[in-house]
Parts: sequence; structure tokens; C-alpha cells
Amino acid sequence: MKTIIVFYSLEGSTRKVAERLAVELKADLLELKPVKPVKNNGSKFMHGGGQVMFGICPKLEDYTFSVSDYDRVIIGTPVWAGSFTPAIKTFLKDNELNYKVSAVFTLSGSGKNEGCLKKLKKKCPSILNDANLLDTNNPDNEETNEKRIKNFISRIRYD
Ligand SMILES: Cc1cc2nc3c(=O)[nH]c(=O)nc-3n(C[C@H](O)[C@H](O)[C@H](O)COP(=O)(O)O)c2cc1C
Repeated sequence: MKTIIVFYSLEGSTRKVAERLAVELKADLLELKPVKPVKNNGSKFMHGGGQVMFGICPKLEDYTFSVSDYDRVIIGTPVWAGSFTPAIKTFLKDNELNYKVSAVFTLSGSGKNEGCLKKLKKKCPSILNDANLLDTNNPDNEETNEKRIKNFISRIRYD
């Protein structure tokens, strides 16, 4: 089973989980990077949230990806303004994923990922499993995340 984890991360939480999953699942990793990144400063909510609100698909830096090389795709995204991130939106628009997206993990500050998940499932109806994770930059979330990550891995290991 050849797996790739495709993710976007502004502040490192999603990247941390993606890297761990890649090791545990022996999966490839693809980090999406917008050509004009949202800056990780005080303007991020307005800039990033605005992109979500206006449905913007930012141009991404070049990457190498061929869906036919993989049996499944796992998506990782922070929740932004109750949705998935614009970089993921671009990736889904630019690639014909042929129902290979089987799982998704989201990172959020609030733990509320329902809207994000619903929108992602609408775009990728093949999603069977998901993990609702909390910002890893907050140490208080470690125990909860650990349980949820282990549970997620056990559910998707033999998908
Ligand atoms: C532009 C922006 C919008 C956000 N919107 C939400 C939101 O709607 N709900 C929420 O729970 N967290 C929200 N957050 C918090 C992030 O989802 C959370 O910090 C996540 O762990 C960040 O992942 P990252 O470190 O991989 O970038 C937002 C953060 C940013 C920068």
C-alpha cells in the first residue's frame, strides 16, 4: 500500500503530525507551499481567513506528484475560518485524485473541525477516516492528541 501525506502548515502543528504519520505509516510526504505565503504574524487571521472567505486558490510552489504512484492520499490541514486551508483547495482543484483520498487530519485551536470536515468530504467523498487534533504548539493538548493520533493510526494502518 503506497501512501502519500499531503499537507499545509503555517505554524508547524500540522507539519509535526504529518512527519510523525509518515514515519509510522511509511508514507511519502508532500508539503504544499504557496508562492505568496500568508505571513505568520498579526495579519495572518485577516490574510488567511480572507483567502478562505473569498474562496481563493493560491498558486503553489512547484511540486512533484503523480496520483498514479499512490494507492491512497491522506490530507492534513489546519482549520482556518471553519474550513480547510486555501493551499489544500488549490491542490484538490489541480489534481484529479480519483477517489484516493481516504483519510484526513485537521489541527485547530478550538477542537471544532466539523465544518472543515464536511467541506472536505464534499470535495473528497472517499474520505473514510479522520482525526480531530488540537494545536500541537500548546503543550496542554499533548495527551489528547496522543490518544487521537494513536487511534487514527490504528484505524488507517490497514485501510
Ligand atoms: C488564518 C487562521 C484562521 C484560523 N481559524 C481557526 C478556526 O476557524 N477555528 C479554530 O479552531 N482554529 C483556527 N485557527 C487556529 C489553527 O487552526 C491552529 O492554530 C492550527 O493548529 C494551526 O496549524 P499549523 O500550526 O499547522 O499552521 C486559525 C488560524 C489561522 C492562522
